[in-house]
Amino acid sequence: MNLNIFAIRLFISIILKIDYIECACTLPTVLNGNIWDSRRGTIVFSNSNSELSSGWEVSVLAQTWTIFNCIESDSTHWLFQSTTSVEIYGPKYYGFYCVRYTKITDYSYYYYLDSNMEVNAADTRISFIEESIVNAGVTLSSVCNPTSGPSPEEFHVLVKKDRQADVKQWFPDALLGVYAYTVTDASSSVFCGSGSVWDACTNRTTISYNYTQCSTQMFGSTDGEFYATKYVTSGSTSYVIIINADSTTSTRFTCLAVSGSSVSSNSGSCVKGQSATTNTADSASVVISLSAYAFTSASAAPSSSNVGIIVGVVVVLILLIAGAIGGFIFYHKYKKKPFPWQKTKVQNGSEENAEKPDDESKANGVRV
Ligand SMILES: *[C@@H]1O[C@H](CO)[C@@H](O)[C@H](O)[C@H]1NC(C)=O
Ligand SMILES: *[C@@H]1O[C@H](CO)[C@@H](O)[C@H](O)[C@H]1NC(C)=O
Repeated sequence: MNLNIFAIRLFISIILKIDYIECACTLPTVLNGNIWDSRRGTIVFSNSNSELSSGWEVSVLAQTWTIFNCIESDSTHWLFQSTTSVEIYGPKYYGFYCVRYTKITDYSYYYYLDSNMEVNAADTRISFIEESIVNAGVTLSSVCNPTSGPSPEEFHVLVKKDRQADVKQWFPDALLGVYAYTVTDASSSVFCGSGSVWDACTNRTTISYNYTQCSTQMFGSTDGEFYATKYVTSGSTSYVIIINADSTTSTRFTCLAVSGSSVSSNSGSCVKGQSATTNTADSASVVISLSAYAFTSASAAPSSSNVGIIVGVVVVLILLIAGAIGGFIFYHKYKKKPFPWQKTKVQNGSEENAEKPDDESKANGVRV
């Protein structure tokens, strides 16, 4: 009898345990090892135990939470809890990151932190929950309900390390074009200007700077090439996080806020309320003024070669029509005494017209 009760209890506890595991956290398999985070630089996940082992450290009154475990997830959120609790003016607290995520590509996500800004943690968006409350049980819905949550521009991106070329998205309309650019840095020095080239037209996912035309390196890039990872538009301002295409760099991400022809930069993610016309507190922040690029006769060469292509196409079309008429006359002239090879040739000729040009819609990135 005792043994039966024991067996039933064991059975129930196994079921409960399974239920518990099922409502826990599943992180996408790509979040394993080194991940580039626009908010924090390189961070480290261990997918097998749903752990964020490095990169999201938070210091509170000279104590630090270092490791966070994902304790619950759904299709829009991951809830991370610090592995330790720290004393804050008496009671002990755990720190919780409420990560509201959206997949962009197989190698990139963007996210918001659904917590208020915490003054005791240098304004990080993180929730402090008392140990006794945590021990009684917390969930996504009980933790992730900020009264003053993030604004649209406060997004961040996660990119699998070394996958910068696989996460390209389109730039916002205001940045698509070829421009000359004038850069004003934090100490009011002015660079570039007339003759400089900002090309986000050749590829709508890529900004290429021509360092021959203006040698000032932009946003820590030695090659002068950046890809858009994600942009959002709020009011008349678009915010885009760009990723440096260089294989190694100390500045992987930069946010550009753009409104009209004015752009401001901030290293990493955008800052709350970032204006397109003023520097942020970041010492590397610059303000850029875009102007229409003055095409020279040399740089206008592509359009004259377009004229060449059009003329060529017309000539080929005329030749084809002439050939078809000639073939038609030839066919009718010898129609009364056909040879087998003539018939085959005409059928092949008509098949030729069935060919269609390649689909061009798979070019470049996907607009989000
Ligand atoms: C534009 O994209 C194509 C295809 O991805 C690439 O071959 C080319 O080098 C790119 N051009 C520039 C200027 O980045
Ligand atoms: C950059 O400018 C130089 C000098 O005008 C030019 O020769 C070169 O082709 C340009 N590079 C690109 C990628 O357009």
